[in-house]
Amino acid sequence: MKYRLKKVAVLGSGVMGSGIACHLANIGLEVLMLDIIPRDLGGDKLKDPTLRNSIVDSALQNSIRSKPAPLYHKSFASRISTGNFEDDFEKISDADWIIEVVVERLDIKQQIFEKVDHNRKNNSLVTSNTSSIPMHLLSEGRSDNFKAHFCGTHFFNPPRYLRLLEVIPTSDTLESVINFFMEFGKVNLGKETVLCKDTPAFIGNRIGVMSATEMTILTKKYSFTVEEVDLLTGPLIGRPPTATFRLQDLVGLDTGDNVSRFVMDNVENDTYINKIKKLPEPKFMRFLLDNKFLGNKSGKGFYEKTKKKDANGKTIINVLNLETLEYKPAIKPRLEIVKTAKGMELLDKRLQFLVDGDSKEHQFFKDYFGALFAYSAARIPEISDQYFPLDDAMRTGYVWEYGPFEYWDLIGFEKGIALVEALGESLPKWVHDLKASGAQSFYKYENGKKHYFNIQNKKFEVLPGKEAFIILDSYRAQKPIIKNSECTVHDIGDGVLCLEFTSKSNSIGEG
Ligand SMILES: NC(=O)c1ccc[n+]([C@@H]2O[C@H](COP(=O)([O-])OP(=O)(O)OC[C@H]3O[C@@H](n4cnc5c(N)ncnc54)[C@H](O)[C@@H]3O)[C@@H](O)[C@H]2O)c1
Repeated sequence: MKYRLKKVAVLGSGVMGSGIACHLANIGLEVLMLDIIPRDLGGDKLKDPTLRNSIVDSALQNSIRSKPAPLYHKSFASRISTGNFEDDFEKISDADWIIEVVVERLDIKQQIFEKVDHNRKNNSLVTSNTSSIPMHLLSEGRSDNFKAHFCGTHFFNPPRYLRLLEVIPTSDTLESVINFFMEFGKVNLGKETVLCKDTPAFIGNRIGVMSATEMTILTKKYSFTVEEVDLLTGPLIGRPPTATFRLQDLVGLDTGDNVSRFVMDNVENDTYINKIKKLPEPKFMRFLLDNKFLGNKSGKGFYEKTKKKDANGKTIINVLNLETLEYKPAIKPRLEIVKTAKGMELLDKRLQFLVDGDSKEHQFFKDYFGALFAYSAARIPEISDQYFPLDDAMRTGYVWEYGPFEYWDLIGFEKGIALVEALGESLPKWVHDLKASGAQSFYKYENGKKHYFNIQNKKFEVLPGKEAFIILDSYRAQKPIIKNSECTVHDIGDGVLCLEFTSKSNSIGEG
């Protein structure tokens, strides 16, 4: 069966719904976006069509104005029409694809899908953007035709920019539907499309939830401030400036909390989650959620952008003190370890330095990376049959420069094992198999190709889908033809030379 998309219905217009609607308009689709009617409308106001659509209309306008821009060009907004769930639901009968993007609650999503089942045309595609809820729970009770055309299409925030698209089929999803979304994601949306198992939070968020939780635990254990942890866990270790707490503000603390709770309540045989479930909720989390300080979407979360300016005319950003629960102007932290690490340009040298010392910052990194490695290794084969999709997901969905196993290689295979063992954790058999094969890394480069260790047949193989790529790193072991302070010329075989700029910002100088 061939699928052709012309019209799409996006159900929900929040942070993600609006972003997805804009991105689908970007690629030329006709989009209908629906949302709820404001709950506080009464009397004559309830009859006013403008007011009935006010949630969806203002969400779309806010999204269009947001930065970075969700639309390739503002004029593409004309491809998006809006409506509400009560007056316009039957319009989804025209849609070739219906994507659900409402609040992260199983009961609400199930109610929406029941309505979708009644209003959709046969064979139209139906997907959910849930961050954590397994697809088979969302399609429970639905018709056979719905189930056959249903899967997860999980975009990351912001949808135009983050390259990961997780496709999550159920056992009922037609092979043709899976193949369609894998291809559509890659070719039409330009995404790294990763096929996931139907487990809670799939790949990216399962590791993401663990990573964020561990950062929060370690913030408290080592008495760091919000600004300090964001300084330690951003570009310094190859991650975006949103780092840890700014990322939670971007995602929305309510959404993040729903996702974590869902993971905690629904995973099985996950020793890390079983352990942290017993810990009391941090009081700052309850404070933020109870006060609806939900991050960027409510104007305040861990950070608060004020209208005040400092002596240099710069906007004052307040930050939450996690102990006193007061907001105070953020201070740029001065940490010696950061100064030293920044002087190390190569990330492998920098990371090796960060996990090799006794200061509380070093301890923080040792605990974090040890826990990340132990957790990621233990998730195979539960969330993925091989380990490289975890690296793909964290690079493209969370914009980490490296995924967990790539970080492990940078820090060093044996050193990584030592970090895990120092936490009293053990490693699964497949890591011991890798070690027994004589390998000293999760990836190796040979003949211009990146190879991974296939844990089923215990052999190194070229990464699937990357056969057509030439990886420059794989030529570093051989002697270059020319090398000076500004460039290196490599012989990459077949009579082809590769000129690599190594000058500052790749600028061209005299050489
Ligand atoms: N925020 C992120 O970074 C992110 C990333 C990927 C996936 N997601 C997922 O996308 C979905 C939407 O998240 P979001 O961040 O856009 O949330 P949001 O809070 O910004 O928006 C939630 C939407 O649900 C609607 N809604 C609220 N109550 C409803 C009800 N009773 N019935 C129907 N609709 C209702 C709201 O009007 C709003 O449009 C969730 O499943 C979330 O897990 C979020």
